[in-house]
Amino acid sequence: MPSVTGPVEPFDYIVFGATGDLTMRKLLPALYYRFRDGQMPSDARIIGAARSKLSDEDFRGRAEKALARFIKAPDLDEAVARRFIGQIFYASVNGAESDSSWENLLRLFDAGVASRTRVFYLATSPGLYGDICHNLAQHGLVTPQSRVVLEKPIGTDLASAERINNEVGQVFDEKKIFRIDHYLGKETVQNLIALRFANPVFERLWTSDAIDHVQITAAESVGVEGRGDYYDSSGALRDMIQNHLLQVMCLVAMEPPGALDADSLRNEKLKVLRALKPILPEEVPNVAIRGQYGRGRIGDAVVPGYMEELGEGRQSKTETFVALKAEIHNWRWGKVPFYLRSGKRLPNKSSEIVVQFKETPWSIFKSKLQSNRLIIRLQPEEGIQLSIMSKDPGPDGMVLRPAKIDISFEKAFSTRYPDAYERLLMDTVRGDPVLFMRRDEVEAAWTWVEPVLDGWARHPDTLHYYSAGSWGPEAARRLLAQDGRCWHEDVE
Ligand code: BG6
Repeated sequence: MPSVTGPVEPFDYIVFGATGDLTMRKLLPALYYRFRDGQMPSDARIIGAARSKLSDEDFRGRAEKALARFIKAPDLDEAVARRFIGQIFYASVNGAESDSSWENLLRLFDAGVASRTRVFYLATSPGLYGDICHNLAQHGLVTPQSRVVLEKPIGTDLASAERINNEVGQVFDEKKIFRIDHYLGKETVQNLIALRFANPVFERLWTSDAIDHVQITAAESVGVEGRGDYYDSSGALRDMIQNHLLQVMCLVAMEPPGALDADSLRNEKLKVLRALKPILPEEVPNVAIRGQYGRGRIGDAVVPGYMEELGEGRQSKTETFVALKAEIHNWRWGKVPFYLRSGKRLPNKSSEIVVQFKETPWSIFKSKLQSNRLIIRLQPEEGIQLSIMSKDPGPDGMVLRPAKIDISFEKAFSTRYPDAYERLLMDTVRGDPVLFMRRDEVEAAWTWVEPVLDGWARHPDTLHYYSAGSWGPEAARRLLAQDGRCWHEDVE
């Protein structure tokens, strides 16, 4: 994978959906960091495009507020921020319609910038991706140096994903389409590749011979934070599992790729997705648990339930929590389930992979033995922890207790961990697709997820409720208990 630090060539970065939460919270702060670190040249431009009628100055004012809100001191340097904001422009465009508003965007593209890299980042509702691409082409904005970035989720099911992929594919070649999944840009997710394939000590054990099961959790303590309308039509399965957690699972489970180029990696990930045992709708109540949070306590704060957060009088059956059992039917992972779990309003924000090794075949000790566990922390405090059994120091003979080998990457490398978007946005400028999803991966993921959606629709009584601040509904605990296992926070 290429270095992320070198300066890139001048570019125009056009963001559709520019007034939305993602642009303010993630994209502009990520570009600011790249500018501050000297990677973004002083004649590169960021062009916000959205329907609101704003001037360049209005949009710059919003950008300034977003930087102040989402970049922590001391990283926000006022003079640098001022220069960065000077490179931001705005065009009021109705992306879905081919109307005169496109003139506002066209005026920014004179012949002088025609040969630059042009990245169109679509941070709108996915239903608009096809129309926006069509209109870009119709207005002559798609040059040979153009690329398009599609935010997830791509579609709401397999049919809509195929439709969007077809529509976008009529304008851009597959090689010019960057389907972003920001989990792939997280340092520790990339580090999984290093951990597995640069350290034979792990890879030798990475099979059903040694591993009992794997748990992958992405927990958040926040609720839906003003994104209620989007979230309520999506839910945790489409928002987190179909993309982020399945991609992480692929990196844990894939075979060693022949090389680190995009297709070698994507081919291996695709094989994992295609080896997933289909979940039958009638199995869904037992293997795919969904939940929705009610009012509860997180730390010292009492927080409202999901429906309260949505607004007065709103009723909803949308899941804010999912726990499911995935089985990969291949030689390496036969009989090693992967339990995937994600939820909002859980006790804390933490994303981690837990590799639970098998028990010792026979114990010669009186002490109860805990099986070894490798915890790969994706966030916060990125690092690795290996739990081992160790002799308790002291005169009481062979008494054993669990101990931990713990590495914090941040402490080990004494460096700032960049946000995933910093790496990924620059990859789109450089045209490096390694950390992006190919069409067939996205469609394979929908193929696996769709029966779960069908199963839930057939069994409406499968929505369980949980209190904010808990680890989800009791049914999530039963999911593992029925296999004689437990979530790792319950290990005694
Ligand atoms: C996004 C989801 O893709 O990922 C959000 O749409 C979620 O609902 C977010 O909060 C979590 O990302 P991270 O990087 O904070 O774990």
